[in-house]
Amino acid sequence: MTETSKSVLTRSFMPATIRNEFPLLRNNSESPALAYLDNAATTQKPQPVLDAIMSYYGTVNSNVGRGYHRLGLAATERLEQARAVVQRAIGAARPEEVVFTRGTTDAVNLVAEVAGRRLVGRGDRVVVTGMEHNSNLLPWRRLCDDAGAQLVVASVAADGRVDMADFSAALGSGARIAAMAHVSNVLGTVNPITEMVAEARRCGALTVVDGAQAVAHRAIDVAAIGADFYCFSAHKVYGPMGIGVLHGRSEVLAELPPYQVGGGTVKAVSFAEPVSYIAPPARLEAGTPDVAGVVGLAAALTYLEEIGWERIRRHDESLVRTAVARLTELDRVRVVGDPAYDPSGIVSITLDGLHPYDVGGHLDQHNIAVRCGVHCASTFLDSLGLVGTVRISFGIYNTEEEISRVCEALRTVRPGFWTREHPTTRFL
Ligand code: ALA
Repeated sequence: MTETSKSVLTRSFMPATIRNEFPLLRNNSESPALAYLDNAATTQKPQPVLDAIMSYYGTVNSNVGRGYHRLGLAATERLEQARAVVQRAIGAARPEEVVFTRGTTDAVNLVAEVAGRRLVGRGDRVVVTGMEHNSNLLPWRRLCDDAGAQLVVASVAADGRVDMADFSAALGSGARIAAMAHVSNVLGTVNPITEMVAEARRCGALTVVDGAQAVAHRAIDVAAIGADFYCFSAHKVYGPMGIGVLHGRSEVLAELPPYQVGGGTVKAVSFAEPVSYIAPPARLEAGTPDVAGVVGLAAALTYLEEIGWERIRRHDESLVRTAVARLTELDRVRVVGDPAYDPSGIVSITLDGLHPYDVGGHLDQHNIAVRCGVHCASTFLDSLGLVGTVRISFGIYNTEEEISRVCEALRTVRPGFWTREHPTTRFL
């Protein structure tokens, strides 16, 4: 082991008991215990989040914004309190800038449908980066295909960073929309998002940031980032599945027509007059919302704030730097990109001569859960010239001992079915 890896290994920033706050991990009685290292796909849920959801259904459940009875009013109040928690947690100017969606995918689709279709016409340009997840690529691809517009892709260098000169060139003087990841879900690269947003806005583009992989790893300040839209999912930040956030600047949200129309969106409707819709965020949240999900998200953000973002950052940095140091010492292992540069919980590796699915299956035999394959970003993997990677992604309950287990297990992995029979097949 090198001096660097020895010194980072001695530090610990999380209490050893934190794993016990997560029922799925606490109740795992297997031997060896589950090493859950697939947090970029979804995080486990701590007891306070589960308690908040149970308590909502057990004491307050009622429909919101509709019932003129005490329970209905209490549920509405709980929803709006949770919106205010999210607003403060992400530094939004006011609660009305927080629109609840089903997740990041839903949020990006919303923007593409309601803002994109108004803004983008034949011959226009929409800019994305070459590292986008399908959820921040396909909505723009479809929009451009339908509108006869051009999707321009800013290239990513081998170190996993966006080529900023190429990004500026792609924007040119008239791109309508620029959509970019805050953090890559494949390599963990942290984009210089404030700079990118400023550049895109200077060029006159509407800016959309996919923050799905950022929110669990750093305090987010949407006002400082300055994007028109910033999206994330609750389930990647220790909250429940099926709920997410679209933050929109007030001036921009005010211009948006409804996404879906239906209950909760309308001020006045008759068969004779034009329909008039209420203001955002309600105009963009048709139908009964997932109030328990929102309450769970607020509990998750509060839980993280109580742990402290400084501690979470240091824990993250320690794990990523340790993993990179330890993994690069192993024969056959290559770390893709430069995750130790600005750690954000993700380390992607390849093993010479081995298909990522064989590696993932082998780690699973050692009760280590990672994601392997293309990570819903096959266009990025294509540009890197890789069939896929094995992605180790950390959460607040992970430990250096789990990194040691990964390294031990990797020493014994052998070519299996995928390497022998389908060396270039990929589907996940
Ligand atoms: N977007 C999630 C991931 O990167 C599912 O794994």
